Amino acid sequence: MSIKEIVCIGAGYVGGPTMSVIAEKCPHINVTVVDLNEDRIKAWQTDDLPIYEPELLDVVKVARGRNLFFSTEIEKNIAKADVVFVSVNTPTKTFGKGAGVAANLEFIGKCARSIRKYAKRDLIVVEKSTLPVRTAEALEKILHSGESDYHFEVLSNPEFLAEGTAINDLQNPDRVLIGGRENETGQKAIADLVEIYSNWVSPEKILTTNTWSSELSKLVANAFLAQRVSSINSISALCEKTEADITEVSKAISMDSRIGAKFLNASVGFGGSCFKKDILNLVYICRHYGLNEVADYWDQVVIMNDYQQTRFVDKIIATMFNTVSDKKITALGFAFKANTGDTRESPAIIIVKQLVEERARVYVSDPKALKQAKHDLDGLDVVLEEDPYEACKGADAVCILTEWQAYKDLDYKKIYANMNKPAFIFDGRNIINPQELYEIGFNVYPIGKAA
Ligand code: NAD
Ligand code: UGA
Repeated sequence: MSIKEIVCIGAGYVGGPTMSVIAEKCPHINVTVVDLNEDRIKAWQTDDLPIYEPELLDVVKVARGRNLFFSTEIEKNIAKADVVFVSVNTPTKTFGKGAGVAANLEFIGKCARSIRKYAKRDLIVVEKSTLPVRTAEALEKILHSGESDYHFEVLSNPEFLAEGTAINDLQNPDRVLIGGRENETGQKAIADLVEIYSNWVSPEKILTTNTWSSELSKLVANAFLAQRVSSINSISALCEKTEADITEVSKAISMDSRIGAKFLNASVGFGGSCFKKDILNLVYICRHYGLNEVADYWDQVVIMNDYQQTRFVDKIIATMFNTVSDKKITALGFAFKANTGDTRESPAIIIVKQLVEERARVYVSDPKALKQAKHDLDGLDVVLEEDPYEACKGADAVCILTEWQAYKDLDYKKIYANMNKPAFIFDGRNIINPQELYEIGFNVYPIGKAA
């Protein structure tokens, strides 16, 4: 089959950028992204896109209206599809069995039912969302139960993009992973999906596996990345006790080519919608199979991350003479990382909430995430101020929570001049030069270094 019509259910951080790049690279294929959320779809049709992602608008503009479409008409679009990518959210369950750990597959299940109901031909259903290993089996059962006479071939094609670099990650992926059944129809569907990616990805980077390896590899990739962050963060705590410097330790170990340099930046902890959810899901799956030691091992990555966030707040309080009550503390950064407006699971949320509980007067600044911060901090007495200089005026302490380039380039002399004294700076991302700030007059507290 030559694929002519792709439909993607879910116009979020993955569905939107992924389909935009497929449409950009495959002008001969129509790509339609559908979503229940009308506001989101409307925003995709304008130049004020619903997510902030560098270079995304340029790509959207190349293809939108040509072979890239955004729509709320789910029924009509499924009816014409050759391939349906399912890219809906799979958050941690908040209720019932597995609450707080398992993935909530409600939205995935609903998509499968819609596909079964509205399909008008045999089609390929692609798991783009991150899912527990063996979800394809459940999807196959839903798709082939009931009234439909069509054949639905389920493939796993997890997404590895990172926010802030999504377009480059999609245009130049380290690899594309496609898992399917080892029978004839499975292999045929894999070949069809390989053909799509071959429009811009070289063959050696397209990896095909069985369905279960593909589903599991996505969870494992995120677990390994998060584990590196927790590992270096755990050592940052030891550095603060021993006068070792985490940047020096990180560099020293990273020059061992077996270890490598990436994901070794100590921080206030990892955030984002996926690391925690995917590790918790991995832990849940391991427990389900009775692998309690394996579950405990991965659980520790999340425990260490929670510890790193709390440790940061504890340090602020201890340093500021055991009380922050009625002191003005300015958080520079609220997004979970630089170059995104996304705040899901951002360490800043926990840190700001803990500071408010301690009755600090908290000001929050961020170049792209204040709209979301307003929502996250709803009901809390926090001031949101985009201009970092204004936000820091009269502050007793400044905490850097997101590694925005703009915060590396600030005029810290000017900030210091307008702060209360003694002026403290807690650099939760190690982006400023502690010596330079110390010379200005700040009391400087980086992560994993002597103060
Ligand atoms: P998101 O919340 O930004 O987007 C999901 C969209 O799906 C929402 O707009 C929602 O309205 C829509 N949706 C839900 N149920 C629907 C239904 N039945 N019909 C139509 N639309 C429906 O989520 P996201 O960040 O794009 O993540 C999607 C999946 O991709 C998750 O499984 C996530 O783990 C995975 N993932 C995310 C990233 C990332 O960087 N955010 C990277 C790789 C993988
Ligand atoms: C991550 C993975 O990198 C992607 O491959 C994956 O597709 C995605 O999750 C997903 O499944 O959602 P993302 O969460 O967008 O991407 O961003 P990362 O760059 O991985 O950063 C995650 C968190 O770790 C951020 O809070 C970041 O600040 C933190 N981090 C990262 C550190 O604290 N130190 C580091 O050295 C690296």
